[in-house]
Amino acid sequence: MPSRPLAAQTALVTGASGGIGADLARELAALGANLVITARSADKLAALADELRAKHAVTVTVVAADLATREGPATLAAEVDRQGLVIDLLVNNAGFGTWSAFADTPWHDVERLIDLDLRALTFLTHYFIGGMKARGRGRIMNVASFLAYAPCPDFATYGAAKAYVLSLSEALDHELKGSGVRVFVTCPGGTRTNFTEAAGQRLTKVGQRSLMTSEAVARLSVKKMLRGRRTYIPGWMNVLSGLFLRLVPRTFRPAFMRTAMGAGVEKPKLGRA
Ligand SMILES: NC(=O)c1ccc[n+]([C@@H]2O[C@H](COP(=O)([O-])OP(=O)(O)OC[C@H]3O[C@@H](n4cnc5c(N)ncnc54)[C@H](OP(=O)(O)O)[C@@H]3O)[C@@H](O)[C@H]2O)c1
Repeated sequence: MPSRPLAAQTALVTGASGGIGADLARELAALGANLVITARSADKLAALADELRAKHAVTVTVVAADLATREGPATLAAEVDRQGLVIDLLVNNAGFGTWSAFADTPWHDVERLIDLDLRALTFLTHYFIGGMKARGRGRIMNVASFLAYAPCPDFATYGAAKAYVLSLSEALDHELKGSGVRVFVTCPGGTRTNFTEAAGQRLTKVGQRSLMTSEAVARLSVKKMLRGRRTYIPGWMNVLSGLFLRLVPRTFRPAFMRTAMGAGVEKPKLGRA
């Protein structure tokens, strides 16, 4: 593989202000991709843009946007068009979860999760896929989660949202066969980012030690995408857990997931503000 296989291509990365998204942007820039990076935190995006321009001599465009708002995804897409940018690789990474019983979760949080994790991802995929098909090439990377594979009490909406992302991605990749456009979905397990704190979880020391780094998740995911994989679970422990999960009868999976997810979390659990 050439050292800069993505040279002269442009990747749009959502949720690039930190965590997995920032490391995906770093990986893609190292492979030569020009970038459009987006999230709400304009200051963090600007710092990342400076870092990537200096290190990798790539073009980095910053577009700050709240993708959980009604107009956010369309405003981002319109800004990309206004600047004349052609997106070769769309990375739908922005997302968050809420660790709380569904009935106790404020509707505002449920709605924002659906708007960000589902609506924005689906809108951006739909918006950019037409141009990719017309050009006969393009890639979409969707960031789902290991929780896509089983119902997860206290992460019910989040797990269901990620199951949608997994299903949509796999269906689209098949639908697009022969078009030159591929859809790749990565399903990380616990990863050391701001995600757990934002979800209202406080991990024990053991829970923290079990997390993968966002650098590793990003590096492995990009590598598998470029190798032509459709679906990927980063980390051997997560792969083994996935295999084990298949052996658990469906009726027991929610209880299994509650136990597994609660194992590394401090009690009593924190509610979201
Ligand atoms: N960490 C894990 O254990 C884990 C495991 C499996 C899957 N994932 C998935 O990985 C993806 C990245 O999460 P992460 O772990 O890197 O978490 P993170 O550190 O909290 O990063 C989330 C990113 O999404 C952005 N974001 C949040 N709300 C947004 C909004 N309303 N509009 C636009 N951008 C928004 C954040 O930026 P701003 O706050 O600046 O907007 C940030 O850049 C998510 O889809 C998550 O579900 C994470």
